[in-house]
Amino acid sequence: MPKISTKPMFEKAYGGGYAIGAFNVNNMEIIQGIVEAAEEEKSPIILQISKGARQYARHEYLMKLIEAALQISDLPIAVHLDHGDSFELCKSCIDGGFTSVMIDGSHLPFDENIALVKKVVDYAHPRGVPVEAELGRLAGVEEHVSVSDLDAIYTNPREAKEYVERTGCDSLAVAIGTSHGAYKFKTEPKLDFERLKQIEEALPGFPLVLHGASSVLQDFVDMCNKYGGKLPGAKGVPEDMIKRAVQGAVCKVNIDTDLRLAMTASIRKAFAEDPANFDPRKYLVPAREAIKQMVKHKLRVLGVNGKI
Ligand code: G3H
Ligand code: 13P
Ligand code: ZN
Repeated sequence: MPKISTKPMFEKAYGGGYAIGAFNVNNMEIIQGIVEAAEEEKSPIILQISKGARQYARHEYLMKLIEAALQISDLPIAVHLDHGDSFELCKSCIDGGFTSVMIDGSHLPFDENIALVKKVVDYAHPRGVPVEAELGRLAGVEEHVSVSDLDAIYTNPREAKEYVERTGCDSLAVAIGTSHGAYKFKTEPKLDFERLKQIEEALPGFPLVLHGASSVLQDFVDMCNKYGGKLPGAKGVPEDMIKRAVQGAVCKVNIDTDLRLAMTASIRKAFAEDPANFDPRKYLVPAREAIKQMVKHKLRVLGVNGKI
């Protein structure tokens, strides 16, 4: 099956009470684990590639691996640039066969963010590629200081409407309390669902994206730590909050950290149990299986299982 864009995926997911899982990929085992999971769960998927992943593995290798997945399976797969940081990077990914791109201008002043997104949209749309953009900042745990700070950092619903109209973007990543990595909350996890509702009302029918959505499941943190890891106090977004978020306009949920934790925990365990193991296949087979089981679990949390 040829790769598809994220547009038809979001059209189906919007209002369907589920979201598409967007999983970060860096190498063959991660791609294989995700694809096997999605096949078993009968779920469309987004394989997303960051600038760092593209530098690590090279565009050509990642695209050939994804081509192999498309050749072997009938899955609807979209190939998405995660956190594109320049027009040139987005252009290169579009020219090189990505079916969706994100341009992340969230660190820029409002009008500069809009100008950058608009430039990418003007290049992407005539080529059939939808564009994800971001308004508001995904504050890390250290930045959560006061309510007024949060108000300045999180996505403003009124601005979101103007932003979407002026940029012509196809989906919007929102800041409502999630953040990247394994340390999202110092104390109780809290998402601003009231703000999410206001953004949904300001943008009826428009797909939203949740970044920083890993749950940092305690079992995997414990397993990493048991075998020599050091992740004290790691805390993610509880899965019941993810389930609640996907009931509305959130059509895409980004997960990277949970896959990293699952993979790393399994490799740490393999080495601890057999210190004489120096065959990459012997520790990457369980690592790939750990990715697969984590993705199967996530697809069920997102409610996208059986949605092909
Ligand atoms: O949000 C970022 C993703 O987790 C990708 O991370 O830039 O280290 O590849 P990376
Ligand atoms: P996590 O770090 O929570 O997995 O978020 C990943 C992400 O948002 C990639 O863009
Ligand atoms: Zn992200």
